[in-house]
Formats: sequence, structure tokens, C-alpha cells
Amino acid sequence: MKLLLPALLLALGVHAVKHEDFKECGQTSFCRRLRPLSTKSESADFASPYSLGTPSLASASQIGAPTKDSAWTFPLSSTLYPEVAFELRVDVLEGDIARVRVDEVGSASPWRRYNETARWSLLSSEPAHGTAKISTQNGMSSIKYGHGLELRINHAPLRIAMVRDGTEEIVFNDRGLFHMEHFRTKEMPVEEEVKETEGEQVKTEEGEAQTEEVEIKSEPEEQEPFEAVIDRSWFETEDGDMFEEQWKRWRDSKPKGPEAFSLDISFPLAKHVFGLPEHASPLSLPDTIGEGSHYTEPYRLWNVDIFEYVADSPMALYGAVPLLHAHSTKGTVGVLNLVASETWVDVAHTNGVQTHWISESGIMDLLLLPGPNPTALFEQYASLTGPAQMPPQFATAYHQCRWNYNTQGEVIEVQERFEEADMPLDVTWLDIEYADEHRYFDWNKKMFPDPVAMINQVAKFGRKMVAIVDPHIKRTDSFRVYKDSLDLDILIKKADNNNFDGWCWPGSSVWVDFFNPKSWEWWTRMFSFETWADQTKDLFVWNDMNEPSVFDGPEITMPKDNIHDGGWEHRDVHNINGMLFHNQTQHAITVREPTKKRPFVLSRAFFAGSQRFGSVWTGDNLGTWEHMAGEAAMFLSNSIAGISFVGADIGGFFGNPGNEMLVRWYQKGAFMPFMRAHAHIDTKRREPYLFEEPIRSYLRDALRLRYILLPAWYNAFHDAATKGHPVIWPQYAKYPSDETGAAVDNQYYVGDSGLLFRPVVDEGATSADVYLAAGQPFYDYFSPRMWPARSKPRNVTIDTPLDKFPLLIEGGHIFPSRERVRRSSSLMRLDPVTFTVALGHNQEAKGQLYMDDGETFAWESGAFIHRALEFKNGKLSSTQKVPHNAKNEYAQSIQDVGVERVRVLGLNQEPTSVSVSGKEVQFVWDKGAPSAKEPRAAVLTIKNPGVKVVNDWEIVIA
Ligand code: GLC
Repeated sequence: MKLLLPALLLALGVHAVKHEDFKECGQTSFCRRLRPLSTKSESADFASPYSLGTPSLASASQIGAPTKDSAWTFPLSSTLYPEVAFELRVDVLEGDIARVRVDEVGSASPWRRYNETARWSLLSSEPAHGTAKISTQNGMSSIKYGHGLELRINHAPLRIAMVRDGTEEIVFNDRGLFHMEHFRTKEMPVEEEVKETEGEQVKTEEGEAQTEEVEIKSEPEEQEPFEAVIDRSWFETEDGDMFEEQWKRWRDSKPKGPEAFSLDISFPLAKHVFGLPEHASPLSLPDTIGEGSHYTEPYRLWNVDIFEYVADSPMALYGAVPLLHAHSTKGTVGVLNLVASETWVDVAHTNGVQTHWISESGIMDLLLLPGPNPTALFEQYASLTGPAQMPPQFATAYHQCRWNYNTQGEVIEVQERFEEADMPLDVTWLDIEYADEHRYFDWNKKMFPDPVAMINQVAKFGRKMVAIVDPHIKRTDSFRVYKDSLDLDILIKKADNNNFDGWCWPGSSVWVDFFNPKSWEWWTRMFSFETWADQTKDLFVWNDMNEPSVFDGPEITMPKDNIHDGGWEHRDVHNINGMLFHNQTQHAITVREPTKKRPFVLSRAFFAGSQRFGSVWTGDNLGTWEHMAGEAAMFLSNSIAGISFVGADIGGFFGNPGNEMLVRWYQKGAFMPFMRAHAHIDTKRREPYLFEEPIRSYLRDALRLRYILLPAWYNAFHDAATKGHPVIWPQYAKYPSDETGAAVDNQYYVGDSGLLFRPVVDEGATSADVYLAAGQPFYDYFSPRMWPARSKPRNVTIDTPLDKFPLLIEGGHIFPSRERVRRSSSLMRLDPVTFTVALGHNQEAKGQLYMDDGETFAWESGAFIHRALEFKNGKLSSTQKVPHNAKNEYAQSIQDVGVERVRVLGLNQEPTSVSVSGKEVQFVWDKGAPSAKEPRAAVLTIKNPGVKVVNDWEIVIA
């Protein structure tokens, strides 16, 4: 919620999240019930009451279809409630991924646990047929799969370890914190129900008939009697809020009663855990529990519209990805806990790293990703949730937004002022005030009399526009979108089955239920040119407020007992709700034109898999140094969880940054995957052309640098779209065996370009430290300064006058750039390319150049060029990296695009000649001073070597 007061408070230096608007663990009943388990588990006689029976090949069951030979189910029971049946199912998936699911089965209850998170989040979960083998003996099942992996499943008590080379790397229920609250009725209080089971032994299930494929080494097992005496009160605390819950003025009717679950995962080898976005916390997640822990609350995953978030906190933010990387120099493994309900996660660095997850509803669906290194993990994660969408080229360039450009004239003025100031710009954005009474799709025609003419005029500059379309729909009969949604009966309902209404920008509003398939085609139609005539193909979309934000709802969102399609409660689906909206909008934009075009849709809420639908930003940040400083870690933690097309509002959403801060923010902005300036309605105008020299030039330099490096960014986006790699890489992912750099989160690498960026985020800073890994030399991007390779990592200090910041190139890399900056990226598509060759310690380097038409899907059928660049034995060569479609219209369209310059950094010998196909070409040699106290790199510049980017060639340096 954005009011005038905040801006005033901010101006006065007063800013703080309203903590009281958001719950702490102790204020939400299920977290209050289950978090204490971890402390109780420390008592010597604590044991898990859960145990497994004998496995059988999976057949149709509640939680999945039959699978030929890679899935097994185990009956699961607990001494707490012997009559309640659970089922644990293990699937082995492609990519050496093991999946462990638990559901309550055969219950007389009318309720079911929500089991569709995977349906929306996962792109695929292919079984690995015929590669896994199970054997069961002595109360233990072993599933061998993949590349030397084993799941060691202890039946009683339940414990599952992923083992590699004899070492346990991921352990589920190591601490016995697994507990699934079964469905019960209010009339059946906990006390009576469990009375006679206390202290009983587990009744092991006699396995169902074994199918042949299950290799059982001994006869149906003689399980060790499971003697532990279980204290019921460890797991079930009396709680008056189990069947309904009141928080402030909101009552949650909880018709299903308690259905939370708790689980622990230990990573015995790990030194760090990363991930669990979105939080404003360091990349290496600090402890939330235990003596001296950095935080005292668990990390919370519950998508919310949080007002003025705290810069260092485990509080929930706008998006949620329940993915963790557990890392040490011994290896990196990952866990995806696929649940969409409210989830809290405790982290403690004890015996490696221990984590405790508590979710309000849903089945347990754990995916164990074996790594063994970050790159493999990225690929495994992408094999599940999908790689990122390949964005249209313009989306990777600079976006200018503010709340609001209020008139058509203002929009055109912005175009002209950028032009006059010689500053590049690709996209101009319209916030909610373009829409008449905040009825999205309906333009305010007083202020924007001819939207189509306006968009076309902007397009003449080679630029695009974006308009906001939020998920709340103004409740007024004169609004066709509202009428339609009523007629189709596709609105989210209240617990009493009437349409839910709440308060948002337009006042009283309703929300479409995008879980309802009936809404999909309708929503696509909303964006068709027939239905929405006031747009053109150059208008794209911003989906905001999709957590969803409901101003008068609990925690500024929707009541948990609201109802979605299929009868599921909002509580079950909350964290995926925003992703479905994003998905449907991007689909609508994709199919608007007869030839599908790559869509661009920005979303604020996200979940695991949102990378398939477009980009996100970090929401309403503050114009403070503190917020600016914390954002690199946020980008990185999003990035490793797949969501790497990410950025933050340049300048800070709230507040009026001073000149120094704004320059630093633009410099940082040039290295955010999503580069957009945005500002609150109450802030002063701050478009970069408004400033006096020298600030104006500094801002222009930052913008131009983004455009110069666009080809390197495009390579990175392509790797994200094809391999699932992040667009920006944290230190630990590039150098997994470097312990000292593992937690570094204030600098990062752009794709595989070798570009290493470190934002300056301290007021008045005249220098900044950069962490350099061992093994390769590093070169300054802006000057000939270099740092020779060292056998140990080190911090180096780099001068940072206001127009400079640390941007280094790691030796061993070649990256492309385009040095003639024009008013927009589309106008640069036929410009020549420059290659920078930063030689490694062995005088070698590698790189790539990926290019396509930047707007259609033709690249998927081979219309691209993808070159491999290599420098070796004094020769720089360009060869085809990935074969492409022979007709390749794209390659034909750029056949005249040449290489205008090659810069080779760090050559250890002056060349006598440089030639291409036997023909000498001109070069300039600066021998630098590689051994000086402040070494300078030798720089060889080859101008116009006379080669084309589409062809194979070799430049010989003798
Ligand atoms: C939300 C968004 C912000 C936007 C505002 C008005 O606060 O986070 O970016 O400007 O709503 O639409």
C-alpha cells in the first residue's frame, strides 16, 4: 500500500516496515505448533514415531500415476495414530533426481491434501526408466540410481539418506522432525484419539504382494522392533486455533482443520546454504535458530505486498522458491520442497547444516538434486521447473518507468528528451494512472486520447511500451472485464462460496481465479487486438500486485479460506497464485499476432517455475544505501533458484536519491539482468536527462555501457533459456572449490563472459574491494590495469571515483560487445561486433556469440547464429558452435555484419604480424607493464580484421 505519508517519513529519514502487519511464526498456529519440535528433538529420548512398511512397485495411488520401473510406494504409519495411513512414494527421475512424496491415504475424511503444486510448477518430471534398482532387507531399503547414487531408506524410524560414494549428503528426517497432521474432526480432540497409543510399538505393515521387479534380498523383513517411547506431546500440542484462527480482525474458518506438516533435512557436508528466495538476507543464509543466531524468526515463504521491507530480515517478500543449495568445497546438492502453502524454514549450522521446514497444508513433495556442483544443480533444477524464457532483445535493454507518466504528451516528451540527451532507451512504462479509474485495459482518454498513435510514435524511435495490468478487477457493472468475469463465473470465492471482494487500487475489486481453466481462453482474448483495440504489437505488460495484494485482507493479501477451482483453499495455492496470472498473461501476449512473438511480462509475485513466464523485480525498495547494498544478494539468491531475469527499481521506489546515490544506482542497474528505473508517485522526477553535468554524463555512461555489453548479456540469457544457467553467477557457483569466496555476495559474474561486476554501494566511497579467485589473471574493463594470476584468492582495492566502479574481466574469456550505441537496441542489430579476448594464465581464452532475430520463436527452429570463439596457440578462431537451420533467414539477414575490432588483453609477446587468410591486417600494440608494481596488461588492438560474424575465420597472431 502506498500512501503519501511514507514518502514524507522517508524524506525525514524515518522508514520501517510495519512489523505488526505481518505475522511472526508464533502468531500463526501451525508454525507455533510445529516449530518447537526441533527444540524438543534435542532431548535424549526423542525419536520419530514414523515408520515404513515393505515397499511395492508404485501403482495408481493418490499421489501419482503408475510408473513402470522407477517408483515405489511404502506404507507409512506413526505410533501417534496407528489407524491413520500415510503413503511414502519414491520416484527416480531423469537427471538423477529422487523424489519423495508423502500423503495421507485412505482417510474417511472428505478432505484431501493439495497435491497440484507440481502440476503448475514443474515443466517435466520424467521417470528414469530402468535405471534404478531397489533391494530391501533388515528393515532397510536401498535404491541405487543414476551416477553412483543411493537412497538409503531406514524403515523404522523413518530416515532417508541420499548417499554418494558411501557418504550421506542429504538426509531427510535425520532429526525425526517429520510430522504430518492427519485430517480429523473437531469432535475428536487429540487427547482421546491418541490415548491408548502412547508408548506403543510401531506395528510394521506386512508388505503388499511383491511384484517381480522388486528385488528383495531376504524374506519379508523381520524388522527390528521399534522400541522408542514416543511422547505424544512432542508432536501434538494442544492448540485452540486448530479449527479456526483469529488474527487481528480476520478470522480464518479453517474448515479442514489442522493439516500442516513438518520435516527436517540435514546436509552433513555443507558449510553454506543458499536460496529460499525471496528474502532481503545475505546469500549464504544465516542461522535462524540456536544460540547467537543472526535471526530469531525462520525464513518465511508467503508471497506478500510488504511495505518498506527491512534490508536484513527473514521476513516474507513478494515471491517464494522453496529451493536450497547446500554447499561446501566437497560438493553442492539441492532440495526443492514443492509446496505452495505458507512455509517457514529454520536454518542452523550444526553438524553441517540442518534445516527444518514447516508448511501449513499440501502433500510433502521433496526433490533431491544431487549436484555434485552448482552448474549441474542449475541444470537439474531446470530439468524440473524449466529453463528461463528467452526474452525479446528489447527486454534486456534499458526500461524507463515511473508512477506515472500522466499524459500522452509526457510519454512523447520522454522519448525526445532521451534523444536530445543522447541516451539510449528501449521501453517506456505506464503505471496504473493510464487506466480509467484503475480499470486496466480502459485508457483514461482525457490523458491518453489516442493510445495507438502514441505507441506507434514511440515505435518510430525503435522503442516499445509496457502498460500495467493488475489482477484486481474494479467491481463496477460498467466495466466489461468485470461483467465477463461474473458471467463466466471465474472469480475467486469466499469460504461461503460467494464471490470474494476486497480493496485495491480501483477500490472495491474482485479477483479472477486463474486456476479455473475457463479463465484461460477468456484472458487470452482480453489481449487480442479485437477485444483490446487500444494497443499495438509494441505494447507489453506488467503484472503487479499478484501475491495477490488485497489492501483490506490479512497481511495485505487474500483470506486463506477463500476458494479456488476444484474446491482448493487459497491457503493451499497462495504461493503459486501469482505465477498462474503471469503465465496466462504471457501466453496471451505470445499469441496476439498471427506469428507468435516472444512476450515480455514483468511479474512481482513468483514461485518455482516463474522463469518460464518472464521477469521479476524485487518490489518496493527504498532509496537508501542500505537497500541498494542488499540487492546484489537478493538478485543472486533469486538467480540460483531459476529466477534470474531480475532487477530492482533503479533509484529506489520510495524517496529521492541524491546525485551520488542515483549515479551508483544506475551503474548497478547496468548490471542487473532486468534494468528498469522506477519511482513512487510522490517522488521528484529523476529521468537521467534531467541532471546537470557531470552527473548527466555519468548516468549516460552507465546506460551506454549496458548497450555496449548487450551481446554479452544476450549470450547469458540464451544460456539461461537453453541450459537453465543463471544470467548472473555468484562466486561459489563459478568457483565451487574455493571456500573463502563461497559467501561472497556483493559482486557477481555476467554469464560466461568473464565480466565480474561489483557495485559501489557506500556513500562517499572512493574505493571498493573486490574478491579475486585464484588461478586466473583479472583485467580492468576501464583501464589497462591488471591483476596477475595468483595461487591464492585475494581481495584487491580498486579506485572508484564517481564515474568508476569495479568491472573486471577474468582471464580465459572472450566476450562480444557492440560499441556504437544508438537510441535503442533494435537499431543496433546490424552494427559490427567487437571481441575482447582476455587471455588466461596459459595464454588461452574461450567465448561465444549467440544472436537471433530478438523477437520471434524462429530461433527454436534454427534461425540463429551461435559461434564458438577460441584463442589458442596465437590464433583466434570463430567456428560454428551449434549447427543451425540451413535456410536460416536470420543468418542471411546479418551476413554483412562484420567484426570491427578485436582487443587481446595479456598477450605475453609482441606480435610481428597479424593475418587473416594469409593477408596481413593492421594492429596496434601496447606492451603494457605486466611486471610493474601496479601491472598494466599488454593490449593488442586489431581494427577491422575484415571478417564477418556469420562465417568461420581465423586470425593468426605471429
Ligand atoms: C506497487 C508496485 C509499484 C507500483 C505501484 C502502483 O507498489 O510495486 O511498482 O508503482 O504498485 O502501481
